[in-house]
Order: sequence, then C-alpha cells, then structure tokens
Amino acid sequence: MNAPASPAPEPGRCQRLKAASRREHDSVDTLVLGVRPFESRERYALFLQVQHRFHGSLQALYGDVQLNRTLPGLAALSRFEAVQADLRDLGLPVPGVPAPVQLSAPAEALGWLYCSEGSNLGAAFLFRQTQQLGLGAQRGARHLAPHPDGRALQWRQFVGLIDALVLSEEQERQAVDGALAAFEFYRSSVRDIFG
Ligand code: HEM
Repeated sequence: MNAPASPAPEPGRCQRLKAASRREHDSVDTLVLGVRPFESRERYALFLQVQHRFHGSLQALYGDVQLNRTLPGLAALSRFEAVQADLRDLGLPVPGVPAPVQLSAPAEALGWLYCSEGSNLGAAFLFRQTQQLGLGAQRGARHLAPHPDGRALQWRQFVGLIDALVLSEEQERQAVDGALAAFEFYRSSVRDIFG
C-alpha cells in the first residue's frame, strides 16, 4: 500500500466542537421536540420565549467590538431582533433584554457562538414546522428563516472564520467549555419556560 502523499487533514475546530458537544446537541434536540413547540400557537409562544432568552443573552457577544474584529460580520448574524419581531408579530409581550452570558474566559465566546450559529442548520427543520401554524419568514418565524444566501453558505463562512483562528490549547478547551455551557443554558431555558 502506498503511503499517502500528505497526512490526512486534522479535523477543523468546528468539527472538534461538534464532536465534543454531540451528546449535548442530541439531548437538546430531543428535549425541544419533546415539548412539542409547534403543536399550537400557545406552545410556539413559549418556544419564542426560549429563543428570546438564548439569543438575547448572546446579543452583547454579537455586538462585541473585539469579537467583530476577529470575526468580521458577526454583528449582522444575530437573530435577536428577528426574535423580537416574531413576538411582536404574534401580539406577544416582548420581554426586556436578558442579562448577557457570563464568561470565565474570552475564548468561551467562540463556543457560545458556534452553538448559536450552528442552531441555524437545525432551524431548517423547525422553520418548516412553523408553516403548519400559518407562520413564515414574513411573520412570526423570521428568526428561523434562512439567510438570503442560504443556510449552508452562511454556516461555511462562519466555520471558515472560527477554524482560521490561532488558539492556545487552553483557549481550545475554553471554546469547548463555552459550547457545552451554551447547550446547557439552552436546555435549562427550555425546562424553565416550558415547565
Ligand atoms: C428540535 C430541535 C433541533 C433539531 C431537530 C436539530 C437538528 C439539527 C440538524 C439536523 C443539524 C445538522 C444539519 C446539517 O448538518 O446540515 C444540526 C446542527 C446543529 N445544531 Fe441542531 N437541532 C435542534 C436544535 C438545536 C439547538 C436548540 C441548538 C443550540 C442551542 C442546536 C445547535 C446545533 C449546532 C451547533 C449544529 C451544528 C453542528 C455542526 O455541524 O458542527 N440545535 N441540528
């Protein structure tokens, strides 16, 4: 057998974040489906509260000047305003902006943002479910709608930026901690809001 011409490429950082958080993702996915958020407008209103808490808590990270230097275009990716618009569309009260997430180290932000941006991929499935409630990109489900350039392209660009960062081993670990904390935050928000 011939030796490969070059070693197999290392998995990128986002691939590693995915591997490290797979179990957390699957548990959140099961939890969300289990609370049947698309069964009725009332349950969807609760789901919007979860989304408001999650994306609202990340608003400060998306707007952070330093992070926007590291990840150009980050501020424009936030879905918080779209969540607020969805609440207004449905005549629901719009809660105040939640307290920003507390990070133990700056590199944890990368894991939180990975979790939030990756959730756009699964949102394709959620977005289709909102149609049975008569909602869509123009009303009530704006924050789940695909980016005009498509979800895949937007995700690839984000992955490219995150993967290209040079991090120390400690920062790599902190990024994973951030992703795990983000999934845990989401999970506890679902439990809290759906009861
Ligand atoms: C019922 C709820 C959910 C379902 C059915 C779901 C489903 C999916 C699916 C099918 C993918 C892969 C898409 C692809 O590769 O094209 C994905 C990716 C992802 N989802 Fe979810 N998801 C759900 C909820 C969430 C939530 C609530 C979060 C975050 C809080 C989340 C975070 C992610 C992340 C980070 C990825 C990217 C994984 C990667 O490729 O690195 N998901 N999801």
